[in-house]
Amino acid sequence: MTTTPWLIRIPDVFAPFAPQILEGLGARPRKALGSDYHLVDLADPSALEDSEWSIFIRWALPVDHAWPCCPQKMDGFVEKAAQGILKKFGDRAPQAIFTGPLLPGAPHPYYKHLATNLRGRVLQLFPTLPVADVESQDPEAGTLFALVGKEGLYCGIRSPREANGFYPGGTKFIRQSEAISRAGAKIAEALHYLKLHRPDLPAGAHWLELGASPGGMTAELLDRGYRVTAIDKAALDARLDRAPGLTFVRGDVDTFQPKGEFDALLCDMNGDPRGSLRQVVRLSKSLRPGGKIVFTLKAAGADTPGEMLELLRAAEAYATASGLELIARTHLTYNRQEFTLFFEVG
Ligand SMILES: C[S@@+](CC[C@H](N)C(=O)[O-])C[C@H]1O[C@@H](n2cnc3c(N)ncnc32)[C@H](O)[C@@H]1O
Repeated sequence: MTTTPWLIRIPDVFAPFAPQILEGLGARPRKALGSDYHLVDLADPSALEDSEWSIFIRWALPVDHAWPCCPQKMDGFVEKAAQGILKKFGDRAPQAIFTGPLLPGAPHPYYKHLATNLRGRVLQLFPTLPVADVESQDPEAGTLFALVGKEGLYCGIRSPREANGFYPGGTKFIRQSEAISRAGAKIAEALHYLKLHRPDLPAGAHWLELGASPGGMTAELLDRGYRVTAIDKAALDARLDRAPGLTFVRGDVDTFQPKGEFDALLCDMNGDPRGSLRQVVRLSKSLRPGGKIVFTLKAAGADTPGEMLELLRAAEAYATASGLELIARTHLTYNRQEFTLFFEVG
């Protein structure tokens, strides 16, 4: 067992399986924190990267500094916490510091403000940090992340890529009020997540989108200046009529014969995930070298973590045997019982 505890986040859709997931990872629980977080001892921290159970972990941080306390009852919490952070991390040169509440979904406003105030004070004590905003982080450089909640303060340094997200806790909040469908948030989050592993696709890149209706994802891609050829048996939302950059093919993906080459492929088809992946592999032949694939692996029929892992294993084995390189796999905040897999073609 390492002496440094880890803060790991298990999304609430997997909460019923938390004991099994922790065991699979070789993690011994110390304490549950907030709604999604667990403070654990890890037999081997490399399990967070190497173990198949890591798919159930949204975000993870080694806790080099913890202050279990009740901030609301503590006089001068922000100043004491900031001085504690300076003492612990002052000589470790993080690229940036970001703070967040331990309750990711609907944080108590008190802790949201506390996290903001804490960051403000810590920045005064670390005046020369090279990176000021979340989106400018180098995914491979160490960032100081600090989470606060009614259980106290938990901090550590980890690169965004290793932690599995640029934001404390891993969630980028995506506004959905005007969205055509909730799937729009999924591709927005997926594209943001992909920056942990690959640079953005350039504006003008051409996406082939399988299972596009009603078009939430299509709208997000078009908003970013991409071109989209979208296919679905069902119609797109009328708001996408005559959208510049969009070609819509009404029909069955299984019989679709593409013309030309694409830079990226997106698949959010429902139905049997194995059938969807077969079409992804078939149509990946129309991608340029280096082309990216974002694939939602729907796990609706898999009821237990064991069944979900079996599905993932089979999908990844089939895709890699078909020549696709797996870049990353994760469960995004805006995913339900499904995973997002990222591939690249050689
Ligand atoms: C979850 S919805 C997609 C939502 C969409 N990504 C969005 O952003 O609004 C799944 C879609 O896959 C489509 N689909 C499933 N199998 C298909 C097939 N073989 N050919 C064409 N469309 C298919 C369905 O018609 C459905 O519209």
